Amino acid sequence: MRKKIIAGNWKMFKDLRETEDLVRGLTSRLTFDLKGNQVIICPPFTSLALASKLIEGKPVELGAQNMHPEDEGAFTGEVSPNMLKSVGCSYVILGHSERRQYFGETNESINKKAKKAIASGLTPIVCVGELLEEREKGITEQVVGTQVRGCLKDVPEAEVERLILAYEPVWAIGTGKTATPQQAQAVHQFIRKTLGQLYNWTVAEKVVIQYGGSVKPENAAELLKQPDIDGALVGGACLKPDSFVAIIQSCL
Ligand code: PGA
Repeated sequence: MRKKIIAGNWKMFKDLRETEDLVRGLTSRLTFDLKGNQVIICPPFTSLALASKLIEGKPVELGAQNMHPEDEGAFTGEVSPNMLKSVGCSYVILGHSERRQYFGETNESINKKAKKAIASGLTPIVCVGELLEEREKGITEQVVGTQVRGCLKDVPEAEVERLILAYEPVWAIGTGKTATPQQAQAVHQFIRKTLGQLYNWTVAEKVVIQYGGSVKPENAAELLKQPDIDGALVGGACLKPDSFVAIIQSCL
């Protein structure tokens, strides 16, 4: 059985003081047995060092929201994989739809980052998902299939299990509109089938595929019950300890 992984994408929220409040609020509530499931928080770069210290000894792991695919260099404003590791990150979100939309990320650039993240010992959380107009045109599978193939290009079979995929329909992100559990399951199943074609079924069965897009305590349990939904990438609802913990509890 695949474990469930619940990750919180803080986006561009929380300064240092607020980070301390949120992490302490979260860890003080995580007193129950996670039963092998995992919790990840992905604060902004400026909060990673503090968050890393605050989660020491707690059942919470750390991720970043982006990285540059080089080890170092003249890339003003960017952060390298080793820098993320040195501050305590084990994960990095790559290709979030906001990065695709506002920062020009493409399947090619995300692929480069994903390969570098894996080579550097980070687990990438690679995001894919269709726009509303693409869903309405009936081309969701075509779009998501192209994204999965593009983002995983030349990622060898032995390494793909180390990567997490997040299906985030763009029309459901931050809109309060969630995909129904059936809509989400259908795309997750399609993604797993695509992995089966790209690699083989044994590998496809092992890859964790998270759902993201307006996940909240009220809809998390139904989504997480679906056979191919292996966790959640949570935006808005991870910014309050009570709602994030309620989502974590709904996968137990
Ligand atoms: P949301 O964001 O939960 O606020 O819709 C999800 C995401 O962008 O990862």
